[in-house]
Amino acid sequence: MPGKSTELLAYHAKRDGKTHVNSTIRVRTGTEFSAEFANDLDEETTVHWHGLHVDWRMDGHPFQPVATGATYRYAFPVRDRGGTYWYHPHPHGGTARQTYAGLAGFFLVEDNDQRRLDEALDLTLGETDIPLLIQDKVLDESGYFLYEPDQMAVDMGYEGDVVLVNLTPTPYQEVSTRIYRFRLLNGSNARTYRIAFSKAGEEELLPYQVIGTDGGLLDRPHSADEVLLSPGERVDILLDLRSLEVGEELMLSSLSFDPMHREHEMDMGGSMDYMEHMDMGHHQMHHQMGPARLPDGSEFYLLRLVVKEKTDYSRSVPEILSEIPQPDLGEADIRPITISMTTDDGGMRWLINGKTRGMDEVSIVVQRGAREVWEIRNDEKSMPHPAHLHGFQFQILEWADTPEQVAHLVIDEESRLVTDVGFKDTVLLWPGETVKCTMDFSHGFEGEQIYMFHCHILEHETAMMLNVKIADSRG
Ligand code: C2O
Ligand code: CU
Ligand code: CU
Repeated sequence: MPGKSTELLAYHAKRDGKTHVNSTIRVRTGTEFSAEFANDLDEETTVHWHGLHVDWRMDGHPFQPVATGATYRYAFPVRDRGGTYWYHPHPHGGTARQTYAGLAGFFLVEDNDQRRLDEALDLTLGETDIPLLIQDKVLDESGYFLYEPDQMAVDMGYEGDVVLVNLTPTPYQEVSTRIYRFRLLNGSNARTYRIAFSKAGEEELLPYQVIGTDGGLLDRPHSADEVLLSPGERVDILLDLRSLEVGEELMLSSLSFDPMHREHEMDMGGSMDYMEHMDMGHHQMHHQMGPARLPDGSEFYLLRLVVKEKTDYSRSVPEILSEIPQPDLGEADIRPITISMTTDDGGMRWLINGKTRGMDEVSIVVQRGAREVWEIRNDEKSMPHPAHLHGFQFQILEWADTPEQVAHLVIDEESRLVTDVGFKDTVLLWPGETVKCTMDFSHGFEGEQIYMFHCHILEHETAMMLNVKIADSRG
């Protein structure tokens, strides 16, 4: 912030004599990644490679903490599709606080499909292929990231009133009249964004091409003028600026939407204590954030693009980007998972399959190599929850009971959105919604594997979490 310096937690990556802060890691599919991790924090931590298919001992699961002062070698073969992945801490009870404090970075995987796209469009990472990490923060008077969630924020997620892109307030980017790729990562603790472009001062949305999601490139570009991006999710976009003039400005914004907390707040009528608690919560939140400066679902801009020069550019977007297999269901078993809330014991608790889970409990056991369909349902009296699975990418089969404000984004009979046609590791469930996903649990790792399935609102991560064991029996 102007005139203020902010202290934050960061990953310092040392390589070839240089130190990079929260570096963007680039690797090729089929190569080995290896990093010696030294924990200089005064508390334990882990590094989780969000979206990557790695042996669970490399996954940063809270069962594998790295103590203060200790080191741990994260080493794994990169088997993933080319795409936009990321890394962040995952210690038990500390994921939200440590990630918020600044620990997060991109992990970009390159494969042949990505290279073909780079060549076809003449894209260069950092110049015309631009990763954007979106995070909202509360800044205290001295400009530090303030993380003091009250009960309300623990229940509903901690949101900030300043939205940073790549840790930059009110960012802008100079561009020329060509095609750009933006890789958007929602690294916020709790806030969802509704991503759109428009000319400065104009209402009309500019169409763009969605080319990738969590697990890399889609089969082909799909045009859209808005997408929803919940915490943990990524979306890769191509924006064609050829029709613009020098001096014109574009805004990358988050449009307004209904955050759908209402049902759940109304339901609190049953418990007077709780009403008071909620009111207090609201009050505290407003006090802490100023007079409701950036309520959930409000509209604001994320990044300003300023056209600096005209260029000759005559590339065109390839019609085929990658191959997305039709999900083969075979004899897949359906595994139901429900997300709901209870106020039975006075306060509010989020439940998965009717219970709050303990950290050590292993609730789901899957056979190695199994294919399953997970049917995840979010109760009507709930709020939006982004469900995330470690270690595996899945495919979305269909949605039911999509709320009206999302329905206009549906592109097919399965009620999928453009952002549902590729591979996913995080999926946003609105209240009342049900999604069916196909999971392929084949893997080439030795022994039993334990991953997590959890809500990626980081304040929910500890309570809304299931350990998923991949059993090693082959029979
Ligand atoms: Cu980014 Cu366990 O998650
Ligand atoms: Cu993850
Ligand atoms: Cu949640």
